[in-house]
Amino acid sequence: LSSPAAFDFVKNDLLLVEEKMRSQADQDYSVLQAALNHLLLSGGKRTRPTLTLLTGRMLGGKLAQLVTLAAAIEMLHTATLVHDDLIDGALLRRGIPTINSQWSPAATVLTGDYLFARAAKLAAEADSLPAMRLFSETLAVIVNGEIGQMFSKRLSELPQDRPMYYQRIHAKTASLFETSAAVAAMVSPVNDSVIEAVSHFGHQVGMAFQIVDDILDFTGSQETVGKPVGSDLRQGLVTLPTIIYLESLKTDQERKSILQSIENQEIVHVDGLVESIRSSEAIAQALREGHAFVEQAVCALNTLPFSPERQALEELAWFIVEREV
Ligand code: IPE
Ligand code: IPE
Ligand code: MG
Ligand code: MG
Repeated sequence: LSSPAAFDFVKNDLLLVEEKMRSQADQDYSVLQAALNHLLLSGGKRTRPTLTLLTGRMLGGKLAQLVTLAAAIEMLHTATLVHDDLIDGALLRRGIPTINSQWSPAATVLTGDYLFARAAKLAAEADSLPAMRLFSETLAVIVNGEIGQMFSKRLSELPQDRPMYYQRIHAKTASLFETSAAVAAMVSPVNDSVIEAVSHFGHQVGMAFQIVDDILDFTGSQETVGKPVGSDLRQGLVTLPTIIYLESLKTDQERKSILQSIENQEIVHVDGLVESIRSSEAIAQALREGHAFVEQAVCALNTLPFSPERQALEELAWFIVEREV
């Protein structure tokens, strides 16, 4: 993520976050050690820790506490990715082979668990009970969301598809963005209304972030995104571009037959569908919905006094909907 202002502000802080994460990987088994180092140094855009650090800097939080929380959040995020890739059977992440592509499911689950444990330890080290509580609640929300996604019956629930979609992306992504901003405010000398404003900012930005992730699954290329694309629909996962595309069809009959082929994972039909959606208006319209979330996010931010950090957060928010990785 090369959002200029946001990154310049926290570039040095992010190095401390990297260091903090690396220090958590020290342990007995050299294979696990190697896997953790590989994971933690594989880059990633570091969007969530950037959000934590910038928010905390804006609000006058203490650097050491912010770095610890940012590292906890990025480790939690990384742990969810390890499990997510196992669940999705994804072979590539951040441009490198996933743990599950090299190890057994059992070893992959345990590696994720180890990261979760270390993330929780870091969260506790920040010495803020409210932050710790929110941290663990967020993990529950994420897991609930993933389970919900796994068991959703798409055909019968089509009429509420959009609310369901928003609920799902709140759980899997926006909740952690919200927490990334909220915990920074919780350890800063501010009142509840400020915590609320930055939480709202984080939430809206997270919604936009996942919408863009879902768009990039159609429009991106594996080289730039660093993970397989076009895979959501092939796995039967209906996201915003598909929902909008379905809405644009003239008859229920058309919708039904498309949903049927998605459900039955008829590869040839689904591949054609991915093409149709990619070249349809649905992409631009989904992006407009992402923009609307960023506009809301910026409104929440503008209730706070102006500062260079606030400006950088606003730029980060816009960058998120303009990104191509
Ligand atoms: C991937 O998150 C999972 C989603 C919520 C879309 P990121 O796109 O932030 O992944 P990294 O950390 O940059 O690799
Ligand atoms: C992953 O969502 C969300 C969590 C890790 C909870 P996705 O499945 O959309 O993420 P990618 O596309 O694999 O990065
Ligand atoms: Mg995935
Ligand atoms: Mg995705």
